[in-house]
Amino acid sequence: MTATRSVVLGCGSYLPQQILTNAELAARIDTSDEWIVQRTGIRQRHIAAEGEFTSHLAINAARAALADAGIDAQSIDLIVLGTSTPDHTFPATAVAVQAALGIHHGAAFDLQAVCSGFIFALSTADSFLRTGAFKRALVIGAETFSRILDWNDRGTCVLFGDGAGAVILEAQQQPGEASDRGILTTHLRSDGRHKTKLYVDGGPSSTRTVGYLRMEGREVFKHAVGMITDVIYDAFKATGTTAEDIDWFVPHQANKRIIDASAHKLHIPPHKVVLTVDLHGNTSAASIPLALSVAVKDGRVKKGDLVLLEAMGGGFTWGSALLRW
Ligand code: ACO
Repeated sequence: MTATRSVVLGCGSYLPQQILTNAELAARIDTSDEWIVQRTGIRQRHIAAEGEFTSHLAINAARAALADAGIDAQSIDLIVLGTSTPDHTFPATAVAVQAALGIHHGAAFDLQAVCSGFIFALSTADSFLRTGAFKRALVIGAETFSRILDWNDRGTCVLFGDGAGAVILEAQQQPGEASDRGILTTHLRSDGRHKTKLYVDGGPSSTRTVGYLRMEGREVFKHAVGMITDVIYDAFKATGTTAEDIDWFVPHQANKRIIDASAHKLHIPPHKVVLTVDLHGNTSAASIPLALSVAVKDGRVKKGDLVLLEAMGGGFTWGSALLRW
């Protein structure tokens, strides 16, 4: 029995030009390169320029993904953009991307699930494609977290960076087997009991301000590995696969210690883990497509590879996706 699958046609990414190193941060606040690298694995992050918005990063990533796929923007009929740092409260940043690409048909909307935003956006687009509602989707994760950081809070400002990544998905008929190309399964979870452990202390309805990111770092750390591995076991169970079948593990790039501990618990060897947190920091919803893009460009992720994605973030929200490239 055949199955409709969302197959990846291409991916792309964009990073703002300006790089902020740990040493530069240490010159401004009471921190050190050694502390940041030891606790997080982060060495540098990119920071959007004055006047450079989330939509600008997203548009550049989208254009790179379209070029990689070798398709015309006009063939896209769905845009789902994961972000917690939109250009404006409304309209959605996705419509700015849609307009810049000259697309006047189909639908475009934002989705907010913080660091899990890309997995939630991918799963949403996949669901629409499989119902037949849309044919080709542009799924983007784009953030300018530098704009919501308290640059005097050394416990948070050293962790995050700006960037964007995108993938193009197309609904295709596949044989309906584990060897199918495309998204094989996605699993999404949320638990609002943890909503104050990682949040922004402002918003249009509460304070009429944008606010700053606040986090209980240890609490996030404590829950992360368990939540991540649970939802990956769900993906294995749904597809009859095991960690041994995975060619590439592309996790949300929050913190090297969380990634290492998750991979270790899953018995995924380090050489199968794609790591970009050292160069990008935590770019929230953008981190997975940014990492994917690096691993595709350098030839690691190839057609037919089984790729495991996961993320966990504010809410808490968490999720996994298993796909064959
Ligand atoms: N530089 C130097 N010292 C620092 C810094 C810093 N940037 N930040 C905190 N410290 C100090 C603290 O003040 C504290 O000092 P004290 O002992 O004198 O009070 C000491 O370092 C230890 O602080 P902790 O917060 O307990 O440090 P911890 O080892 O937990 O590391 C960290 C903090 C890196 C934030 C860790 O908790 C963590 O990685 N948590 C996960 C958070 C995360 O990744 N969030 C991303 C968003 S969620 C997601 O994407 C999964």
